[in-house]
Amino acid sequence: MKLPKKVRIAVFPVAGLGTRFLPATKAMPKEMLPVVDRPLIQYAVDEAKEAGIEHFVFITGRNKGVIEDHFDRQFELEETLKKRGKLEALKELQRDLPIAGQTSFTRQQEPLGLGHAVWCARHLVGNEPFALLLPDMLLKSDPGVLTQMIAAYEKTGNNIIAVEEAAPEDISSYGVVARGQGDDSGFEITGMVEKPKAEDAPSNLIISGRYILQPEIFDLISNQAKGAGGEIQITDAMHKLMEHQNFTGVKYKGRSFDCGSKVGFLTANIVFALARKDISHDFMKELQTVATGS
Ligand code: UTP
Repeated sequence: MKLPKKVRIAVFPVAGLGTRFLPATKAMPKEMLPVVDRPLIQYAVDEAKEAGIEHFVFITGRNKGVIEDHFDRQFELEETLKKRGKLEALKELQRDLPIAGQTSFTRQQEPLGLGHAVWCARHLVGNEPFALLLPDMLLKSDPGVLTQMIAAYEKTGNNIIAVEEAAPEDISSYGVVARGQGDDSGFEITGMVEKPKAEDAPSNLIISGRYILQPEIFDLISNQAKGAGGEIQITDAMHKLMEHQNFTGVKYKGRSFDCGSKVGFLTANIVFALARKDISHDFMKELQTVATGS
């Protein structure tokens, strides 16, 4: 088989209104909500970097300027950290920065849905396969989920979707795939449906906010009418793309936290804090006090 084109570009749609998290998201982007001390968008960029992504495309909107600032240098802050001898903090800030020229920002002028947000990246992506990461889905796994997906992509050259098992009561909030032949590291996807009722769902495997897509998706989005919730959905375009191209599912090792929901976000903070050597001991003591009411 001819080697598939390398996945060099990742797209991060960050133009949504975050209505489930109001009033926190009235003036602050949902994607800047911190889990412990890092904003959600930083986790998604780190996952993409680990997978070998070379260019980071952000689909932003009104009130999202701080995301661009977050990935820029802050000279005053850097100088102050140097003067105060906080060199470790300075090193960390510098480590998180993309290299100059590695980022692009474009605006989705109206939040017309995820499919529309992705379509806004069409000129920046061009005729290449690309990764799509929804930053409000925080994934905890080692290696990162996009790294696991790239492995499946390099074997097949297909479109790739990361999935995980969900409880029946959660299924109607997500896209769900139908599973064909293959194992967890790469199986055939034979169908997909956006936010089905639990009884109509083709499986319990939900789409977890990570995709590798071929550029043909853009034309399909262009010709698309509004779908579920009056929004232009990415699942509808993927459904059409399935008529011409293969899709592979990766049931990744790890778990997701839907940080667009309050419970998901709070749980993520607990799990990520307990995994942090610098605070886990003290935090666990506090949790025990809260749990026992003492
Ligand atoms: P969500 O549907 O979870 O985000 O989209 P939302 O619409 O901001 O949230 P709620 O439902 O109102 O609380 C997943 C990702 O897609 C982006 C969001 O910013 C989020 O990162 N998105 C969504 C866009 O960029 N544009 C859109 O039109 C919709």
